[in-house]
Amino acid sequence: MQNPEFVKAAFSAIAKRYVATNHVLSMGIDLLWRQRAVQRISEWKPKNILDLATGTGDLALAFQRAIPEVDILGSDFCPEMLEIAQQRGLRKMICADAMDLPFEDESFDVVTVAFGLRNMADYAGALNEMKRVLKPNGHLLVLDFSLPDNLLRAPYRFYLHKILPTIAGIMTGHKAAYDYLADSIESFPCGDDMIKLMDQCGYRFIDAEPLNGGIATIYTATK
Ligand SMILES: C[S@@+](CC[C@H](N)C(=O)[O-])C[C@H]1O[C@@H](n2cnc3c(N)ncnc32)[C@H](O)[C@@H]1O
Repeated sequence: MQNPEFVKAAFSAIAKRYVATNHVLSMGIDLLWRQRAVQRISEWKPKNILDLATGTGDLALAFQRAIPEVDILGSDFCPEMLEIAQQRGLRKMICADAMDLPFEDESFDVVTVAFGLRNMADYAGALNEMKRVLKPNGHLLVLDFSLPDNLLRAPYRFYLHKILPTIAGIMTGHKAAYDYLADSIESFPCGDDMIKLMDQCGYRFIDAEPLNGGIATIYTATK
């Protein structure tokens, strides 16, 4: 559970360096994760998609390129991140808080959120709001970091807490935003805990697909 004012200020401060820093810190692996998300979404053959916490538009732009016939709307509460998304070619976007979306009930075939749910003030509240705007039988896809439950766990945590904030601090001048990233990953429910949370929110057919040994996970569910 995060403080929205802190989160908005942190992303506003790093917006201009966000894309480059991301690719360096993940050594480009985040591009493959988004490709996998695009593959999963394409199988559902949606007519429209809402990409929440779209930020600089990485996932929404991947959809736009892969399935241009689909109506894709990016949404975020940080105008500085959306400005970069627009410069990068995202066609449709809206500035809105994911906790209180300005859409009618049952508006979207698919709702996605990549590296965004973890930053929200109330995970269950956000998942319920996503469910409200999904059409009946609509699909949810959440992509986010997770903590591996294998031999990778210790080196990954060392990277998260020691190496990542140092490199990101040099690249963006905002080390605190990346100390926050590591802490937010530690406290974010993952694996079975996320499945349980989605189940409590009333989703069906919940699935978790660990990526690269479990350092990230794609969760899918149906309303
Ligand atoms: C780590 S970025 C993810 C951006 C993009 N989805 C990606 O895959 O790179 C997280 C984004 O979540 C947004 N965010 C966090 N909480 C939000 C909320 N309650 N409503 C809307 N956007 C939110 C932040 O402004 C930020 O742009």
